[in-house]
Amino acid sequence: MSHRIGVIPGDGIGHEVIPVALNVIRAAGVELDCVDYDLGGARYLRDGVVLDDATVEEWRGLDALLLGAVGTPDVPPGVIERGLLLKMRFDLDLYVNQRPFLAPDGSHDFIVIRENTEGTYAGEGGFLRKNTPFEVATQGSVNTRHGVERCVRYAFELARSRDRKHLTLVHKTNVLTFAGDLWERTFNEVAAEYPDVSTAYNHVDAACIYFVEDPKRYDVIVTDNLFGDILTDLGGAVSGGIGFASSGNLNPDRTSPSMFEPVHGSAPDIAGQNKANPVAAILSAAMMLEFLGEDAAATAIRKACSDTETLTGSTTEIGDLVVARL
Ligand code: IPM
Ligand code: MN
Repeated sequence: MSHRIGVIPGDGIGHEVIPVALNVIRAAGVELDCVDYDLGGARYLRDGVVLDDATVEEWRGLDALLLGAVGTPDVPPGVIERGLLLKMRFDLDLYVNQRPFLAPDGSHDFIVIRENTEGTYAGEGGFLRKNTPFEVATQGSVNTRHGVERCVRYAFELARSRDRKHLTLVHKTNVLTFAGDLWERTFNEVAAEYPDVSTAYNHVDAACIYFVEDPKRYDVIVTDNLFGDILTDLGGAVSGGIGFASSGNLNPDRTSPSMFEPVHGSAPDIAGQNKANPVAAILSAAMMLEFLGEDAAATAIRKACSDTETLTGSTTEIGDLVVARL
């Protein structure tokens, strides 16, 4: 069966890593019917288009979306991030951001579940008396019982499916006493339904130390949108580098297509030089295949990417190596 995929290479190294990831998928024996979408900073600079509602509606008919990276230095911050990436996450209700981290030597293996549609990312806030000495800027954090609970439930289900069955809530309940309280109460209530899953709680600042000094303590982590954003860059840094960090923006209810993308950005400094590590994009593609039920291909691709020390060379050389291993 062929899967209908929307492909958004985006900007910069997105154009280099996505073709490699698609090659690997085909080499793993999975048939794709790809629809290309030219979106990102470069498109915006060309004709002012970021992402229109008609395109989002068109995507609802797809099985999944694969994105490279978006962003160009000459577009003001927020235009592409909010208008494209966050619009995708919000409009398609991709409420789980799943980011797995594996140490190159196998010493740790954990997954961060980041809430993907609320928190400070919801965009609540504004200016008062802008550009005066009395300017006020507020940036709120939106946390709903529904939004927190569905994310926490997903994390418990994931933890239950794994060998260690251990789930850690990461927040900052000692300072964010409203949002933290809602997260903690929800987490503890849902935990009662999962007696087979052991739980822990870490403040986010302490989690930063553990990520560096003792990451093997973690199995599954669940956290809010902004903490998850920051922690997963650190997760990449302690797991072989951001060039290996993959992610899935998931709608677990499957009411809309999920979107898969490497954690890294468009890296304009090395774009066009065949230097980018394509493994993060390849592993994101593997996550997509698993979500589409292509478990055997996903496992084979992960295995082909596992011996990271020997996965060196240019973007295309690494891609060819992975294909050869398949
Ligand atoms: C990520 C990115 C995005 C985020 C940016 C580009 C909007 O950093 O996917 O982690 O903050 O979520
Ligand atoms: Mn990020």
